Order: sequence, then structure tokens, then C-alpha cells
Amino acid sequence: MENIFQPNAEFSKNAHIKSMDEYNALMKKADEDYEGFWKEYADEKIEWLASYDKVLDESDAPFYKWFTKGKLNVSNQCIDRHLAQKSNKVAILFEGDRGDIEKITYAELSKRVNKFANLLKNKFGVKKGDRVILYMPMIPEAAYAMLACARIGAIHSIVFGGFSAGALKDRIEDAKAKLVITADGAYRKGKPYLLKPVVDDALDKKIDCVEAVLVVKRNNEDIHWEEGRDHDYNALIGAESDECPFEPMDSEDPLFLLYTSGSTGKPKGVQHNTAGYILWAQMTMEWVFDVQGDDVYWCTADIGWITGHTYIVYGPLAAGTTTLMFEGVPTYPDAGRAWKMVQDHKITQFYTAPTAIRVLHKMGEDEPSKYDLSSLKVLGTVGEPIDPPAWKWYYEAVGGSQCAIVDTYWQTETGGHMISPLPGATPIKPACATYALPGIMAEVMDADGNAKELGETGLLCITKPWPSMIRNIWGDPERFKSAYFGDAKKDGKPVYFTGDGANVDKDGYITITGRMDDVINVSGHRMGSAEIEAVVTEDDYVAEVAVVGRHHDIKGESIFIYVVLKSEAEKDMKKHINDLLSSEIGNIAKADDIVVVPGLPKTRSGKIMRRILRSIAIGEAITQDTSTLEDPAVVGQIEKAVKEA
Ligand code: WTA
Repeated sequence: MENIFQPNAEFSKNAHIKSMDEYNALMKKADEDYEGFWKEYADEKIEWLASYDKVLDESDAPFYKWFTKGKLNVSNQCIDRHLAQKSNKVAILFEGDRGDIEKITYAELSKRVNKFANLLKNKFGVKKGDRVILYMPMIPEAAYAMLACARIGAIHSIVFGGFSAGALKDRIEDAKAKLVITADGAYRKGKPYLLKPVVDDALDKKIDCVEAVLVVKRNNEDIHWEEGRDHDYNALIGAESDECPFEPMDSEDPLFLLYTSGSTGKPKGVQHNTAGYILWAQMTMEWVFDVQGDDVYWCTADIGWITGHTYIVYGPLAAGTTTLMFEGVPTYPDAGRAWKMVQDHKITQFYTAPTAIRVLHKMGEDEPSKYDLSSLKVLGTVGEPIDPPAWKWYYEAVGGSQCAIVDTYWQTETGGHMISPLPGATPIKPACATYALPGIMAEVMDADGNAKELGETGLLCITKPWPSMIRNIWGDPERFKSAYFGDAKKDGKPVYFTGDGANVDKDGYITITGRMDDVINVSGHRMGSAEIEAVVTEDDYVAEVAVVGRHHDIKGESIFIYVVLKSEAEKDMKKHINDLLSSEIGNIAKADDIVVVPGLPKTRSGKIMRRILRSIAIGEAITQDTSTLEDPAVVGQIEKAVKEA
């Protein structure tokens, strides 16, 4: 008998969605009248400044448009409209690495965002449609900057603080940003670290578009200051007025870009637009995390990733909840830090990644029992498949067998959750994302769009457009079409391919099996093997390279690199290549394994057979047919090199 965990009956009574009957009724409604389904929520949830004329415009598929001609502003949706009822409610609860705490109410958030918006307009001439890069630590000013951009209609693009100068430069140039907002640095594990030097490095590489750099002072460490280019936020912000009218934005005006890795080429600037994105961010906060009343919600992601965008800033604030923002790491000063924070702040929803759960489990199996975690109602996970042992520990030790675990499946491109349990309704099977959310049409298909049999793994597809879906790849509509929409059609419309594999069981439960393309998921961070290969290939010693992912107990997957050298290198190639990756992409791109091999397994047409390399990396027997290889003997040589490495 399979383990099934029924929702907590007490919890269900007050949940937004209380039962599977309610869930099924919503699904039925979406099925029968898709546009009517979405219209109801758009009318109820969004404060429209001008009403829309059409719910969904499919005339230029897959460039779908939602709520056309409607006008709204996301910073109004997240701040202003709450002020009448919630001005004294804490909007952002900040805890610094060193335990410093700041509570920013909705009224205070309004002032700070308005000032920030005025600074962007008055001092830097930032206008609607301009791109602004944020390279920020986890401090409240990062959220103010996002909301200030949204207020004046500027398009922000956040670059994760772990990316190097090279990666930052590529993103600044692709977005043609005129302003970079950063901080001198921040604190991690009790020590100051610096971010501004990375911006200096990126801009040293000659970038024409950037006119100015705005620097928030967090740790007042000594940094280089470029007169004329660099501006001190803390010195300037005081003079700005705390009133800045918000720009009425079209439903389909871009809200932000966020670069993410694909299976080919350079990172792509995923574009999210205004109305559909904020609608789904708010709806999923309510449905999946079930935020209510005085809940204090905590998501441990970094704002540099989509989870930080949708589920630290936009979703929680649109839903009018209190969102905790944490500068530090959950294992410092000890493995009880996160649980102490849950206790101290009476956290009601806790959302993190399987990697973090595995680390916390490993470092402190009994640690949760030392704290009062009874405030918790919902536990969430995101970013990679969660394994049953981690799930079990999370459920029992952290949730006291009382909390639903919402295993939320989604992507940068989907803007918000796609497949997830509903905490008050869904009977949960461990380590399973369960069902598509109401309004989301998920199916497991083959590449031609034929449905797979029950239990068979295939490509996870979304067969109807949804409001928060990716609108475009910045500057590359052709790549948008080819990366996400193949030839498969359903009801005459192109089908969205997630790139993930999944299967459906006899009860209709969807289990995500992982990426089906050449994207590696390291600790929940997406890395394109092509992106890593492009960096390594540039090295003078390297003739050829192939990158694959391999299972890792803590990180989910780790990076495994095979290199063929031009000549015998005297160097420590592992260090050499990892240094290169760290400076060109960032530490997250470093490989756990780098093996020098005499050649790569290629077909006669020159295609690298990565499946063979994946099998060798995990020490699995080769089951693939190697007779089509240009040089079948190379397989044995690679196996030998890996064994000896
Ligand atoms: C993976 C993160 C299994 C998946 C929100 C997806 C998951 C990629 C889950 C997106 C989950 C995310 N179970 N796998 N619950 N959630 N993934 O764009 O491979 O950083 O395609 O967005 O993470 O990563 P991204």
C-alpha cells in the first residue's frame, strides 16, 4: 500500500480550497469555460485602472496576450491598494545575517518605494520601458528597487549575486540596461563580502549602454568609487519625495526580464509581462501557501532567481501578507538557525529547496526538535525533485506530521506554480507534485504531442496558455518559439514544452522525473551544459569538451566535465578549469569532476553521445549501442580514465 497523507482536517476548514471536490469543480469550470474561469479571478483580484477588452488573445500564438488593453500597476497591486486596511501591518520582515531585524510596514514600504522611484526618475532619468539591472544581496532595498521599477514602468532584470563579472556583463549588454543598482556588499556567515567589485569588473569590460551605477551601502567596506558614474543611494535617497504617482501600465507591458539557462546557446532573457504575472503570483500565494490573516511567510530563495521574484516579493505583497527576507544562510551560526527563526518569528509557511532540506537534515537531524515549530502550517519545496528520505524528515521532524508539504513544480518561464498539492485539499503522495493547479492544463506527451500511457515517462507539456507564462525571449522571438513550442499541437494550438520528464499514475498523480534536455540542475540552479562547454572550449589547453550532470546526494546533480587536451598540460586541469568557470560564470558553475580523456564518443556525423557519458559518470553499465560510434574503442578508454581519476 502506498503512503498517502490526507490534509490536516483542522487546517482544511479554513483553507482557500478545502477539498478535492472543490478542486475538481474548479478544474471542471476551467475546462468548460477557460476564459470565463480566468475572467472571474482577474476581476476579483486585480485593481484595474482601466478594464481590459479581451481575456485571452490567441491570434498570434504562441505570442499570447492576456487581458488586452487593461491598465494596472504592480506596485499599486502590491502596496498602495493595501494601505487603507493594512498600513501598519508588516510587509517585509527582514533578518540580517548577524541577527539584526527590521520590520517594514506597508506604510513604510510605500514611502521607501516612492522615494526610490523618484530617485530613478529624477536623478537617473529612468523612463517607462528602460532596463535596469539589479545585482543585489538579500536586503530590503532589493525589493524596493524592484517595486520602484514596476512603479514607473521600468523593466528590471536581476542578476543573481553569485554570478561573476563575465556573466553580469553578458546580461547587462543583452538587456541594454542604462542603470545598474548594486550594494557595496552584504554579510554572510558573520563576515562582510563584496559585490560592487564585480560590477566594476563587468563595466571595465567596456559596456556602452550603462550610464550610472547606484550603490546601496550595506556593510561600508572599502570599495572603489568611480566619480561621475557611481552614486551613493544612502546619501541621495533622503532628498526624494515619498510620493510618486504610479504609471498606468498596459496588461502586456513587460514587468521584468530574468535570464535563465537553456539547453543551447547563451542564457535567455525570459520576459514576463504585467497583468497575467501578478494575477497568478497572487492566486498561487493564496491557493498553494494558503496565506491568511496575520501569517508570517518565509521563502529562503534568493531574489536573483524566479522563486525570489514571485514568492518573496511579488506574490506575498500582492496577497498583502508578511514576507520574511533573510540575508544569511540557514546553517549559520549553526544548523538550528532556520528553526530558531521559525520559532522567533512564528513562521506559518516555510518554503525552501530540497538541497537545503538535505543539508539541514544531514547537519542537524534532531535540531528541529529543540525549537517550537508549532506555528508552521504549510511546508513547501521547489527547484528539483525531492527524494523520499528528505521528504519524510521534512514532514515528520520539521512539520510534526501536521503540515502539508507542497512540492511545487514550476519554472522561470511559467512565472508561478504549475503542479502542486493544495494544502487543504490534496491527499499527498510523498515526493510527488500531485496535480496541476486549477486552470493549468498539464499533459505528458511524446514529441509529436501524443499522450503517453499511464505510468510511461514522457515530456511534460502545458497544452493551453496560462496568464503568467513567458511572453518572449528578450530580443529573440524566434528562439522563444523554437525553445518552447515544437510542432506538436492540441486543438490547433502549439503546446508548451517544459523540458522536464514526468509520468502520471493510475490516480492521475503527476511525478516529475527531471530534465529531458541538456540542462543540469545543481542545488536547484539551472545550468546549461552548452553554456559551460562554451567557456571551457575557449581555454588554450582544451581541444574538446563535453559536460553532463551526475547524481549528487546533497546537490541533486553535480557537474561532470570530460576534456580532451590539445597537448599534455602540466597544469592541475581541475583547478584551472574551475577557476575559469568561476570567473566566467560564477562559483555555481564549478564542476565536482573533471576528467581528462583521450577522445569523446561521437557518432560518424560528429554528434557527442552524451547518454554514454552520463552512464560512465555514474559508473553504470553501457546499454546503448556503441557500434554507430566513429571510434567504439574510445568508450573503454573513457571508462578507464574515469576510474583512475
Ligand atoms: C526543476 C525554479 C521537480 C525542473 C522554480 C524545472 C522541479 C526547473 C520542481 C526550473 C519540483 C522545479 N520537482 N523538479 N517541484 N520545481 N523543478 O527555472 O527541472 O530555476 O524545469 O525555476 O527546476 O528551474 P527554474
